[in-house]
Order: sequence, then structure tokens, then C-alpha cells
Amino acid sequence: MLLQSDIKSILKQYQLTIEAELELLLKEPSLNSLAQSQALESMHYSVMNGGKRLRAILALITAEAVLNSETQADFKTNPASGLALAIELVHCGSLIHDDLPCMDDGDLRRGKPTNHKVYGEAMALLAGDTLLCYPLEVLITKTPELAKLKITRVVLELIQAIKDMIAGQALDLELPSKAQKTIEDLKKMQELKTGALLRASVRLAAILAGANEKQIIALDSYANKLGLAFQITDDILDNTISTDQLGKTAGKDLKQNKFTFVQEYGLEGASKLAIDLINSAKDDIDSVMIYTAKLKLIADYVISRNN
Ligand code: IPE
Ligand code: IPE
Ligand code: MG
Ligand code: MG
Ligand code: MG
Repeated sequence: MLLQSDIKSILKQYQLTIEAELELLLKEPSLNSLAQSQALESMHYSVMNGGKRLRAILALITAEAVLNSETQADFKTNPASGLALAIELVHCGSLIHDDLPCMDDGDLRRGKPTNHKVYGEAMALLAGDTLLCYPLEVLITKTPELAKLKITRVVLELIQAIKDMIAGQALDLELPSKAQKTIEDLKKMQELKTGALLRASVRLAAILAGANEKQIIALDSYANKLGLAFQITDDILDNTISTDQLGKTAGKDLKQNKFTFVQEYGLEGASKLAIDLINSAKDDIDSVMIYTAKLKLIADYVISRNN
């Protein structure tokens, strides 16, 4: 049986595997043209800088759960291995762009200076661009043979999720100046900017692993709630945790007049909402799979994390 106290070591195991694979991906010959400038180094800087790798981990453990495996499967045979890496790369690219002066103007990311602070805005823009298209190549070429039967559907759904993430980022920038904003606006924005990629990690991993329709529906609902709880927690942490601990500048949302869950519900209300969502997410998957322990642990981690 897994305990909540096991979460750190479980995350670590997956993180080590994912990071070794990401490092290899950045050495692929298909990126050689980018190595002629600083573009590749700039990408490397923002991929290999110690993120939590949550989306990649979710993809791997979802596929394992669907395949009835309680233990960490061999990475290469996990049907979601290509997907896990692809989504992590898209996520890293989205953060480079999110930190640009024309967006959130961030100085610090994962405890280090943001990409544009080191490589300049133009190179940061180009690194982020590459991290929008290279992941699709990774998904197609690194998905294990057996799961390839489903690749067209999965590529198309990932492209939609990326467009949704961008749409959410656009709303995040526009909403602060909108006169009458509603909770529905806030939920829509989060569903797109953060929810879309988190949902794709789970949903597409389930599809690649051969889940049945009932399982896909249940996992999709789990992932939607997880995504919302994740962004609520991100908003709470911005208000409650120090810059040092967070690895990014704290208190930024308020300063930039962002439309957040803390602003709408207050700290306590937001926290209660996140807890309710996580409990409900865990209930969603109970009746459709046997090995749900890791998916539940990670759901708890989404709201108990401190960075
Ligand atoms: C931060 O995501 C950005 C949001 C979508 C809210 P994470 O908190 O997953 O960032 P890393 O990858 O661990 O740095
Ligand atoms: C970022 O959301 C979402 C994406 C990058 C898609 P935030 O702007 O809230 O993320 P942080 O707080 O800078 O990590
Ligand atoms: Mg932002
Ligand atoms: Mg930001
Ligand atoms: Mg934030």
C-alpha cells in the first residue's frame, strides 16, 4: 500500500527517468540546425532547470493504471512515453513565453533567472517557438509501436490542447481590463491556460494505453478537476509562499492585477474549493480501475505542494 509520505520518493523516481530522457531529446540530430546559434542552448536552459515534471508524471502513471500495473513500468514500453516528453516540452515553452516582458514579465523561474534574462527576448521567443513544434515530432517518433495505432487522434487532440493553452494565456492578459468579469470567465480561462495541458496528459495517456470509453470519461473528469485545483493552488501559493521557496517571484498576481481564484474567493474559500475538487477527482476514478493509488497520491500532492 502507498502512503502520502511516499509521494516525494515516487515523484523523484519518475523525475529522474523523465529528465534523463529530456536530456537525450535535446541531443537529437533533428535539432542540429538550432545548435548553430544560441537557440538550442536557450531551450536546454529552460527544459533542464528542475521543474516538477507533473504533466509527464501524470501521463506515465495514467498509462500504468490503465494497464493494471502497480509499479513504475519501463519507460520505453510505457505507451505514453512520447506523450509525457512532448507535453513536458510544450509546458516548458509556455513558461518561457509566460515570463516574457510582454506577458507576465517574470525575473525568476524554477529558482533561476528567466530565459530572456539570460539569452535575451528574441532568443527566448525562438526557444519557446521551437518548444511548440518539436514536441509534436517527439510524440510521433517516440510513441511505442503498439500505441502508434492511435497516434492520429492523439496528435490532433494535443494540437487542440496547445491552441487552448494559448487561448487561455490570451484571456489571462485581457481579463484584468474587462469591466464585468464573472466566475465563469475565471473558470474558462483556467480550463484553457492550465487545464488543457494537464487534461491532455491524462486523457491522451489513457487513449494510448487502450483505455475503454468508461475509463476515458472517468479519467477525463479526474483530470479536469485536477487542472482546476492545480491553478487554484498556483494562485494561493503566489499569495502565501516566499519567493525563495516558490522559485518564482511571489505576490506577482496582485501586483499585476491578475484575475485569480484568491481574488474571487479569498484564501480560505479558494483552498476549500481546491480540497473539494481533489476529493471529487479521486472519487471519479475509483470504479473504473484497480490501481488508482498513485493517481490519488498525486491528486493530493497537487494541493499540498509548496512550490
Ligand atoms: C506553473 O506550472 C505554471 C502553471 C501552469 C500554473 P508548474 O507549477 O507545473 O511549473 P513547473 O514545471 O513545476 O516549474
Ligand atoms: C501560466 O500561468 C500558464 C501557462 C504558462 C500556460 P501563470 O502565469 O499563473 O504561471 P506562473 O505563476 O507564472 O508560474
Ligand atoms: Mg501567466
Ligand atoms: Mg506567470
Ligand atoms: Mg501563477
